[in-house]
Amino acid sequence: MQEMGAMSYEIRCFECGKPTKDEKLDACPSCGGLLNVEMDLSGLKGKGAKQLGHAPMGVWRYAPFLPVEASKAVSLLEGGTPLYDCRALARELGMERLFVKYEGANPTGSFKDRGMTVGVSKAVELGCKVVGCASTGNTSAALAAYAAKAGLGCVVLLPSGKVALGKLAQAMFYGAKVISIDGNFDDALNVVRQLAREGHLYLLNSINPFRPEGQKTVAFEVVEQLGLKVPDTIVLPVGNAANIWAVYKGLSEWMEVGWIDRMPRLIGVQAAGSNPIATAFRQGKRDFVPEEHPETVATAIRIGNPASGRKALKAIYDTGGLATDVTDEEIIAAQKLLGKREGVGVEPASAASVAGVVKLRRQGLISREERVVCVCTGNLLKDPDTVIKNAGQVLKAGASVDEVKRLMLG
Ligand code: F0G
Repeated sequence: MQEMGAMSYEIRCFECGKPTKDEKLDACPSCGGLLNVEMDLSGLKGKGAKQLGHAPMGVWRYAPFLPVEASKAVSLLEGGTPLYDCRALARELGMERLFVKYEGANPTGSFKDRGMTVGVSKAVELGCKVVGCASTGNTSAALAAYAAKAGLGCVVLLPSGKVALGKLAQAMFYGAKVISIDGNFDDALNVVRQLAREGHLYLLNSINPFRPEGQKTVAFEVVEQLGLKVPDTIVLPVGNAANIWAVYKGLSEWMEVGWIDRMPRLIGVQAAGSNPIATAFRQGKRDFVPEEHPETVATAIRIGNPASGRKALKAIYDTGGLATDVTDEEIIAAQKLLGKREGVGVEPASAASVAGVVKLRRQGLISREERVVCVCTGNLLKDPDTVIKNAGQVLKAGASVDEVKRLMLG
C-alpha cells in the first residue's frame, strides 16, 4: 500500500492480480499484464458527492480519488468541460435527451489533458527527467504541454504522415523532440515501450496506470453536471481503449463509496477500418485479434492493437454495454451534423461517438427514452485538413458590394 497524504493505493495487475511496488512499470513484472491503480476509498464511503463542496470543476476537484498529492499537481486547469444538452440533435435522432461532453475545451484541446496532469505529476514525484509516448497526435500534444509546464524533457513518436496538422503543430510548439516513425501507432508504441524498459524515459501512454486515473474524472463531471444523476448510457470512441476503461473505473469507484447507485451502460465505437474491439464484441469474446493494417479518416483512433483492449471489453460486458463500428462516411456525416445542429465542433474520432448513436438509434439498439451522453474527445481544430476537405467551397469576389451581393443571393 502506497501512502500519499490522506489517500493510499496499491498497484495491481489487471490480469493476475499480483501487486507491485515499482511505480515506474507499465506492465506486470510477473505476467506482463496491464497494471491498475486500486485506491483505498474506505474513508469516503457513504459521505456523498456533496462533500466535494465548492472546489472548482476540473480534474483536481476529485483529488480524494487521485493517487497523486493535489498540492504538487502539474496542472493547466484541465477538466471542467461543458456538458451540452443537444436538443436539436436529439429531436433529429428521435431521442428525448442527448448530451455531448465537450472535451475539446481542455487546455490542449482533448481529453488527454486529464490523464496528463496526473501522469506528469507522478513523473515529477518519481524524479523522472524525461517523459515520452507514442501517439496518434493528441497524447503527444498534451504530454508536450505538461512536460513544458513541469520542465521535463519530452520525446514523442508519431506514425509518419498520419497525424492531424493541429496535433503535430502542438507537439512541435511546446518543445518536444518529435520523431516520425516509419510505421503505424502500434509500431511506435512497441518502440517507446522498449525505450522505457531500458530506462531512457518514463512512459506516459495510457498503459501507464496513472493516466486513466486522471481520465476517469470525466465520468465524475458528467454525473455532477446531470445533478448527481447517472445517465443511462455513455458512448465513447475507442482507439487504444483506455478511456472507456477509465470511465468504467471512475464510476465503479463511485459505486463502491455509494455516491451513485447504478452504472450506465458503456458503448464503445470504433472506425470500421480499425475495429478489433467491435469485432470481438460481435463474436462475444473477451479478447481480440489485432488488425494489422488499421485505416480510417479518424486518425486519432487508427489503432489495430489496442493496448487496453481487454480492459475495454471488461468495461463493456460488465455494464451490459456494447461495441460497434462506423464507416468514415458515417463519421464525417456525424461530425457535420453536430456542427450544423448544435454549433459544436469536434474532430473525426470524437464524431465517431455521435455516429455510433446515429447508427444504434437506427438499429433500435438505443431507445427513444434513453438518456445518452456522447464523450466528444477532441476539438474540431485538431484536424483542419479533414474539415476543409469535406466542407463546401469558399466563394471568391472582388472587393465590391455588387459582386458580394450577387454571391450572397445566388
Ligand atoms: N478520441 C481522440 C480524439 C483520441 O485522440 C483518442 C486516442 C481516442 C478518442 C481514443 O481513446 O485510445 O483511450 O481509446 N488517442 C491516442 C493518442 C491514441 O495518441 O492521442 P483511447
